[in-house]
Amino acid sequence: MMRNSAFLVASAAVVAAQSSSSQPCAAVASSLSRSSGATSGISAQAAFDCLNSVPVDTSGNSQLIDELKRVWQFQSELVWYKNPGSDWEYGSLDIIEELDRIKSSLGSFQSEYAVQLAIQNITIRTGNFHFNYQPDILQIFDFVRPFNVASVSSDGKALPKLYVHEDIAPLATGSRRVSAIEQINGQDPYEFLKSTWFSQYIDSDGRMNNMFSKGDTEHQGAFASQDKYDGNNTDIKWANGTTATIGNLAFSDFSFSGITDGQSFFQKFCTGSISGASVSIADTKDKDAGVDVVSPRGPGPVLTIPRGDYHTRNKRQIIPSSGYPDSVVEDASGTVAGYFLNGQGYQDVAVLKIISFSNPSSSGETLFNNGFQATIKDFLRQCESQKKSKLIIDLRENGGGNTNLLLDAFMQLFPELDPFSGQRYRASDPWLKIGAAVDEIRNNADMSRKYRTSAGESMENTSIYRFWAWWHFRKADGTNFASWDEFNGPIELNDDKLTMTMRYNYSSSDRVSILPAGFNFVNGTRPSLFEAKNVVMFTDALCGSSCASFHEELKNIAGVKAVTVGGLPRNQPIQTVTGSKGGEVLPMFLFSEYAGNLLNISSRVGVTTFKSDDTDLTSIANVPRIAVRAGDAASRVQSQDQIRKGDKSATPLQFIYEASDCKIFYTPDTYFDPDAAWKQAWDAFSDDSKCVSGSTKHKSSISGGYTPFGAKALSAEDQPEAPANGSGGSKSAAPKMGQKSVVGALVIPVMAAAAIM
Ligand SMILES: *[C@@H]1O[C@H](CO)[C@@H](O)[C@H](O)[C@H]1NC(C)=O
Ligand SMILES: *[C@@H]1O[C@H](CO)[C@@H](O)[C@H](O)[C@H]1NC(C)=O
Ligand SMILES: *[C@@H]1O[C@H](CO)[C@@H](O)[C@H](O)[C@H]1NC(C)=O
Ligand SMILES: *[C@@H]1O[C@H](CO)[C@@H](O)[C@H](O)[C@H]1NC(C)=O
Ligand SMILES: *[C@@H]1O[C@H](CO)[C@@H](O)[C@H](O)[C@H]1NC(C)=O
Ligand SMILES: *[C@@H]1O[C@H](CO)[C@@H](O)[C@H](O)[C@H]1NC(C)=O
Ligand SMILES: *[C@@H]1O[C@H](CO)[C@@H](O)[C@H](O)[C@H]1NC(C)=O
Ligand SMILES: *[C@@H]1O[C@H](CO)[C@@H](O)[C@H](O)[C@H]1NC(C)=O
Repeated sequence: MMRNSAFLVASAAVVAAQSSSSQPCAAVASSLSRSSGATSGISAQAAFDCLNSVPVDTSGNSQLIDELKRVWQFQSELVWYKNPGSDWEYGSLDIIEELDRIKSSLGSFQSEYAVQLAIQNITIRTGNFHFNYQPDILQIFDFVRPFNVASVSSDGKALPKLYVHEDIAPLATGSRRVSAIEQINGQDPYEFLKSTWFSQYIDSDGRMNNMFSKGDTEHQGAFASQDKYDGNNTDIKWANGTTATIGNLAFSDFSFSGITDGQSFFQKFCTGSISGASVSIADTKDKDAGVDVVSPRGPGPVLTIPRGDYHTRNKRQIIPSSGYPDSVVEDASGTVAGYFLNGQGYQDVAVLKIISFSNPSSSGETLFNNGFQATIKDFLRQCESQKKSKLIIDLRENGGGNTNLLLDAFMQLFPELDPFSGQRYRASDPWLKIGAAVDEIRNNADMSRKYRTSAGESMENTSIYRFWAWWHFRKADGTNFASWDEFNGPIELNDDKLTMTMRYNYSSSDRVSILPAGFNFVNGTRPSLFEAKNVVMFTDALCGSSCASFHEELKNIAGVKAVTVGGLPRNQPIQTVTGSKGGEVLPMFLFSEYAGNLLNISSRVGVTTFKSDDTDLTSIANVPRIAVRAGDAASRVQSQDQIRKGDKSATPLQFIYEASDCKIFYTPDTYFDPDAAWKQAWDAFSDDSKCVSGSTKHKSSISGGYTPFGAKALSAEDQPEAPANGSGGSKSAAPKMGQKSVVGALVIPVMAAAAIM
């Protein structure tokens, strides 16, 4: 959460948490009542003491953990983490075993805060920012260090040093009063950052970059905007000998009125008020965990699966209005802009900056999608007329967004190439049961009619059951699936069962697959304006989600190289992408709704593929503790892995190490000045001697010998074995894009959330 910048906050008076009561939460309530806690903050220690006084809800947490074990079955990489392969920095993680470990030791936790942090820690350890657990108690306070740090190198190659953000500007103008940070809390500053980070990136370089503030945007680093309580003070020692002790703060947007102790804190915040779940439904008086069953009822309301944007972090970023050179084009949303470089050696270099694929405002999705597309179109037109032949694609900070936009951007840049975009699900029992029922309803006219009456949508063009609507998706080789069986596989890989790799249908006649309402991909033939060898991706490793998918198309299909800035201070390669490389992501509660919805209508529709008391489905539909504690959109699971075209092992992209072609560090100049940063990146792309020593030519990078698969057709040999009775691996070539005639208005909008990564 962004707060006022650095020292502004530090200078605000910290409201002392003084109270006659010995109850820490009473002290917090009293401090907050005397001030606005949302703006002036209390000491971090006071907030922590309050959290730490909230007693453990042993029986509730025991049930909660059992429920998480069920719903987390939809996390696509759940089992892969057990045997993640040697590329994976964090080692093996058995998520279910970790949950059991917490469950069996609930009695030994200090507080409810500690229990929830331990559960959240499992998701943190996955390094995948698509997998989120944000229960009520972890949402009450924001912990803040009231200053930002920046990591800069003297020349872009020498190992960087850590500075207070505000010191970089004087450093750039040669001030001699400025000094690097030598220690934080008595430790080497980078070692300190390592000891305290709590974020989800694929490796330590990503976690490190996430700690720093960004010089050219408002984005604070996680050093300042802390992910959890991390001590009451920060002690700094600078190289010049000066020291300072800076108090850490906590802010809360919530009213503490009526809170007198840990117990009343729990009553107020941990019984549904944060998640929005109503206590009467969720608080089954019957504490006997196995008995809560939702049985299919008579005609009841069928859920409308909520539409909307579930991004709370990493997205919603916009290009700032100041500090950036004049753009050639810029979208009204502020997410995408084009620039031309000036100066000797840069005259033919253009820059396409995409800071996000996500709509920064909560309305106008169609306008946003079309504006985004039109901006890139306009940019390319101007590049053509101004004869620009070289391109930097600046993806720094890009944490993802709408899938259709990354695909469209790629199609515009490389119109001759067919983007791959391969996804797949875990073929868990509840997943397969929902799919079998969807297939049955679709294939039976009578059931389809009844479904339409109940659900208010046809199963043929379902947006609710889109994940399972196999007929809207294509096989890896581009042809249509013949059946549900062919789609679901499952294939057995790495001790798990997974569905066959599937791709979106890009046709404008298919509104279920990937195209949102009112948006079509660019079409018509024209050659690529830029040759891949003249294009470079510029990242800060924080690229993830749709940005990672964009990178995958640019690297593995088009053969575009990358330059990446920052990371740990070491002479080694850095990965281009350390954000999530997974596919679509949804709030956890939606999976319960998919199951509950189906149970509710199954008897009316006459579904035969499961029984009304099916335990797999009822156990997913009935998760009252999740609803109460983590039932809002902040807790999410990643439904899909992304799979690389031509990877016979079908390893989730997440687990494939991919070095950038070159690493650089910011200099004091390039930290703040995007124009200088683009030139630094371009110079490094053109000349390896400008890259950090030891960072180039890793075998996983294009310049180190990685051969992009390219646009060629996929054959059976390039894919994992299809199940024996399936018909996967057909040799037919991918269909040509964009040749179909226009079909008019759209019928059923795709659920917006489902098309977002
Ligand atoms: C999270 O888990 C890691 C690995 O087990 C552990 O080292 C770390 O202390 C945990 N952090 C918290 C805040 O629980
Ligand atoms: C030492 O360096 C810090 C950080 O740049 C600066 O704020 C401080 O004024 C310096 N102290 C002296 C005595 O120059
Ligand atoms: C925590 O820091 C604040 C200043 O931010 C200070 O007033 C308070 O005494 C400290 N509390 C503890 C327990 O160290
Ligand atoms: C599904 O959508 C297609 C394309 O818009 C349309 O032609 C078809 O009639 C729809 N089918 C049903 C059953 O609604
Ligand atoms: C994609 O969708 C279109 C329109 O519904 C359909 O005609 C086509 O068969 C689908 N599959 C492929 C591979 O294009
Ligand atoms: C199922 O139906 C019941 C009764 O009409 C309703 O309370 C419940 O919310 C429904 N559940 C879902 C997931 O639609
Ligand atoms: C494939 O085999 C499985 C298990 O033997 C069977 O359940 C399924 O119906 C078969 N699918 C097809 C398309 O024959
Ligand atoms: C081609 O693009 C235009 C403009 O967006 C759109 O109206 C049309 O439907 C598209 N045609 C196809 C076949 O996608």
